Amino acid sequence: MDSSGTRSLRGVGDHSVVPQAGAGLPAVDPCMLVIFGGAGDLAQRKLIPALFRLDSAGQLPPAFQMLGVGIEKMGDEEYRALLREGVEHSAEVEGPDDADWDAFAQRVSWLQGDFLQAETHERLSSVLDGSSLGDRLFYLATPPSTAPGIIENLAAAGLSKEDRGWTRIVLEKPFGSDLATAQTLNAAVAEGFEEHQVYRIDHYLGKETVQNILFFRFGNALFEPVWNRNHVEYVEITAAEPLGVGHRAGYYEESGALRDMVANHLMQLLALTAMEAPVAFDADAVRDKKIEVWRSIRPMSPEEIRRYTVRAQYVPGEIEGEQVPGWLDEPGVPRESRTETYAALDLRIDNWRWAGVPFYLRTGKRLAQHVTEIAVHFRQPPLALFPADEELESNVIVLRLQPDEGISLAFGAKQPGSDRRTAPVSMDFCYQQSFGAASASAYSALLLDAMRGDATLFTRRDGVEAQWRVITPIEEAWAAAPSDTPDSYPAGSEGPPAAGRLLERNGHRWRPLDGNTGACAG
Ligand code: BG6
Repeated sequence: MDSSGTRSLRGVGDHSVVPQAGAGLPAVDPCMLVIFGGAGDLAQRKLIPALFRLDSAGQLPPAFQMLGVGIEKMGDEEYRALLREGVEHSAEVEGPDDADWDAFAQRVSWLQGDFLQAETHERLSSVLDGSSLGDRLFYLATPPSTAPGIIENLAAAGLSKEDRGWTRIVLEKPFGSDLATAQTLNAAVAEGFEEHQVYRIDHYLGKETVQNILFFRFGNALFEPVWNRNHVEYVEITAAEPLGVGHRAGYYEESGALRDMVANHLMQLLALTAMEAPVAFDADAVRDKKIEVWRSIRPMSPEEIRRYTVRAQYVPGEIEGEQVPGWLDEPGVPRESRTETYAALDLRIDNWRWAGVPFYLRTGKRLAQHVTEIAVHFRQPPLALFPADEELESNVIVLRLQPDEGISLAFGAKQPGSDRRTAPVSMDFCYQQSFGAASASAYSALLLDAMRGDATLFTRRDGVEAQWRVITPIEEAWAAAPSDTPDSYPAGSEGPPAAGRLLERNGHRWRPLDGNTGACAG
């Protein structure tokens, strides 16, 4: 304590003070949010519930306004009623409370028009000119093919300029379907907007638990010293879903699991797990370090791609007691479809920290469980001093991203009463228990960041291209081997046996999808 009775924040000697990189968040500017595709699925299911939640929590500035743009013929009141329906069906919002909804609805209006026509953008321009809000956020909640046309029209109408305040544009994935198309899209975006204005969304980065990977690694002194090839044997990254593709069969048939999940979400999880510490928690510092990871992924020859990757389709099976059809029997899927609904990869990161450590990635639809997690498996102790009942499990840190969000550390402990025997136990941290309330939705967090001008959780142009440099050769090798039919797995299973063999050859194995969630299981 000092003489005023306040506990000193300093430890013994100045050198013990932890340098602060600055944690304050900039304010959210009052702005006009223009959602192209404002009556579409994404807007109704995700964006509006997220905005409504922010508004009800008092997190939107009082002057904030939102304008939906789309071809649907309706007036403001009809539009508001349509949005309310979406909010009522959203799992993220309880209610909604009538007073909260009325207050939110007053901020919302509709502009009918074809967003690929110059005339619509001219009318949009006069609406925006007539508004007192000079800061503008354009959100493209539209099919990917429309992005270049909307951007060209916005720029031609002078709407990409920043003469009255800031102007930003949010783009949804997919950012192209391979390296060449991503480069073409990036070039089209750059014709209309400068890179600092562009926010490419990957909704995984808006999840609290995904952001926590960096806090866990770089906000603690304990883990980072062992987070490298000297101590880590292998890393698993899993995103498994029991759901099928619903009404998105057309999109998914073109995309497949590799483009839909690995090229973006799993690449992000890999980068957050493997990246070096950034010099600061700011947009370019963090994104530079992530790009270094993608650039360090060892390129594979077509033959290596055959050996170190697995693709598969689900065949009929049972999920939660219900029979479900196979991929080829889904409505809208061609009988001869070769699209993978499951992908597994064994990737190597050729850098100083990770040389020789396999990073196994897997994702799929219609799997046994919903689980997204990162499991870091540590090496065995150098000497087996104590007998174990079973083969001694090595230490594993599991970062569970969803559901049952938490972190667990598995280790061996002495069995009580036994004679020097070891048994596996775990220490668990559960979000729900520690922090209570459910975390904000990914879209709420990302929308706020875009309004604040914080691009840390958005993908930069070179980042998108670096991700495609990893994925495109795999896509090409798969496409160039038409006689290789995808493996198969029954719906409701753990995935194809070939994925198990991918790890077995290195003496490793996947965690079961219903793997122990420790004390966090809901
Ligand atoms: C989307 C994919 O980007 O992410 C979907 O297109 C997938 O196919 C979804 O289901 C998974 O997101 P989440 O947040 O449910 O893990």
